[in-house]
Amino acid sequence: MSDRVYIFDTTLRDGEQSPGCSMNTPEKLRMAERLVALGVDLLEAGFPIASDGDYEAVDAVSRAFPWVQVAALARCTRKDIERAASALEAAKRPRIHTFIATSDVHLQFKLKKSRQQVLDEAVAAVQLARTYVDDVEFSAEDATRTDWDYLEEVCKAVVAAGARTVNLPDTVGWSVPEEYGALIGRVAKSLGDTAVVSVHCHDDLGLAVANSLAAVQNGARQIECTINGIGERAGNCSLEEIAMILKVRGDRLPYHTAIVSEELYPASQLLSSLITFGPQPNKAIVGANAFAHEAGIHQDGYLKNKSTYEIVDPRSVGVPEGVLVLGKHSGRHALKDRLVSLGFNLTKDELDVMYERFTAVADRRKKGLMSEEIAELAREIVEAGSTESASAQVAGD
Ligand code: KIV
Ligand code: ZN
Repeated sequence: MSDRVYIFDTTLRDGEQSPGCSMNTPEKLRMAERLVALGVDLLEAGFPIASDGDYEAVDAVSRAFPWVQVAALARCTRKDIERAASALEAAKRPRIHTFIATSDVHLQFKLKKSRQQVLDEAVAAVQLARTYVDDVEFSAEDATRTDWDYLEEVCKAVVAAGARTVNLPDTVGWSVPEEYGALIGRVAKSLGDTAVVSVHCHDDLGLAVANSLAAVQNGARQIECTINGIGERAGNCSLEEIAMILKVRGDRLPYHTAIVSEELYPASQLLSSLITFGPQPNKAIVGANAFAHEAGIHQDGYLKNKSTYEIVDPRSVGVPEGVLVLGKHSGRHALKDRLVSLGFNLTKDELDVMYERFTAVADRRKKGLMSEEIAELAREIVEAGSTESASAQVAGD
């Protein structure tokens, strides 16, 4: 079996649908550009039946990045699948991702359907999706709370119906690594090379990354994840953590992805500027403190040799030199570099205003400005700029 693990990014779908994370189409396009630079294998751009905005975003991302595989989500219904297929019409490498819940608790209380009905609907949905696209993924929602025999039966049936990827989500973050690994191992063995087994873990018990890795060790070859781990409730599996674990601990986990690790931090920063919150300061890889050494003993060791307290070189994830603080003595150049690394490409005029405000604040400070604060100033300037140009347009109309 190949050691290549495919990264299916769902920041723009599962991530975007969670509180405080809405993005409009231009914002999704900006984020998609960074995700493409990051080297994700698949971009899930939306759930077209859910809203016109999602439909438009799938269409726009498909047109803007024709060389990238673009996925659209659909329930196992004709209406959903037709809508997804239509949104993907411009895509050169479209994937319809269709799903239905398979656990008894969802069947009984949510769907009010029998196991046989769900199996029949899953098969029919995959067959219908295949009339539009060659690449169909099927997800058994709440797979980890589904009876394993029934789950295996559904997986085999959807593959026979034409699904190329079978995803077994831990929808409610219920599973633990050993258990999830065993489930994935069983399904991977049963499907052999007829389909790629995919994983999609939520982080309700803080195990999304650990569960995804256990799955890979047991035969999964696609991981669904999001930047900064955003997503429903406690979020999805964090893309940056998965990518760096596989890169840094290749000795124990000999698998590889196409992720360009230097793009991780810029992607995280851009996302934070588009939604209403950033990662917590102590978040691995992309948090503001992820590479800060504060305690005396740590600082002492670090200054003697970085490897004493640093297992990831900040530059390898795109954290710019000296990212933590930029002081009043920092020049325009350093400020511009920092802004670019934070995902801001300011015009010359905006940069002039930014520099003036930055030095004014830095002058009053002893400690300089953190990246977060610099990003905040830049956001204000960009927003003021767009409001001004909108008012100018209204005045001109
Ligand atoms: O968490 C989940 O089960 C999902 C599916 C729609 C893939 O997001
Ligand atoms: Zn999910």
